[in-house]
Amino acid sequence: MSGDNPYQDDHGNHDASVTRQGGESSIDPTRVSGPVVEGAGGPFLIGDRMTGGYGKGPDILHDCTIAVEKGEIAVIVGPNGAGKSTAMKAVFGMLDVRTGSVRLDGRDITRLTPQDRVRMGMGFVPQTHNIFTSMTVEENLEMGAFIREDDYRGTIEQVYDLFPILGEKRRQPAGELSGGQRQQVAVGRALMTQPKVLMLDEPTAGVSPIVMDELFDRIIEVARRGISILMVEQNARQALEIADKGYVLVQGANAHTGTGKELLADPQVRRSFLGG
Ligand SMILES: Nc1ncnc2c1ncn2[C@@H]1O[C@H](COP(=O)(O)OP(=O)(O)O)[C@@H](O)[C@H]1O
Ligand SMILES: [Mg+2]
Repeated sequence: MSGDNPYQDDHGNHDASVTRQGGESSIDPTRVSGPVVEGAGGPFLIGDRMTGGYGKGPDILHDCTIAVEKGEIAVIVGPNGAGKSTAMKAVFGMLDVRTGSVRLDGRDITRLTPQDRVRMGMGFVPQTHNIFTSMTVEENLEMGAFIREDDYRGTIEQVYDLFPILGEKRRQPAGELSGGQRQQVAVGRALMTQPKVLMLDEPTAGVSPIVMDELFDRIIEVARRGISILMVEQNARQALEIADKGYVLVQGANAHTGTGKELLADPQVRRSFLGG
């Protein structure tokens, strides 16, 4: 048996929260039910029952929960204006949550600044303005390493291994690259801090289906290295196909939650969000 490998490449089938019985009760940490044993701390990263909005404005998020497990891919989908980006910003600390909490690896980080969250192992690629267009590809990666005091050359080489085109274009201003290549720069920049969890807000916006597939393949590769991925996606069907866990948000609240497979098979989700 392979009981000692917590990162088996068997995405999506270990979510006890889907099968657990008895409403609000959480998983009994003393009960060993299979090869993957979760700590008492719950998911690796969770925005738990978040309610809040921008400044003194109205609440945008209403009791919204999103989470991702170690080395898994969680995808957030939903209509425009549903609050997907807001939920990501709340998890990253760019927005005060009025109620609810954010926990990373069992630690409450609700009051930490985004910078402190980066230090704790979170990387974030925002939906827009996620690269410095006038700087070269390599300068963008160097900027990404801003919190590091050690030698980050090796990490730059790892990014070039993951995205070979960036190595070829390392001396070119990032603004001259194609849309898909710019998104690679943005992801690469976030990887420079060697995050444990990578948050991506619509990484495939505006790229062709082929480029989208390539980017998804690279994202799966990152997850296989043990980095958790929390991702907002417009391409809901394709994203749910690679998702261990999926969240459909509507008007700032959880409308549907399940494994990617479950959501793809749910008639209501299909009808309302996947075009039938
Ligand atoms: N910086 C902001 N200040 C105030 N309201 C905002 C801001 N950004 C987004 N909103 C509002 O929050 C709601 C959700 O937006 P957003 O999270 O961007 O949705 P999505 O990413 O799902 O398209 C919208 O009503 C939007 O107008
Ligand atoms: Mg958005």
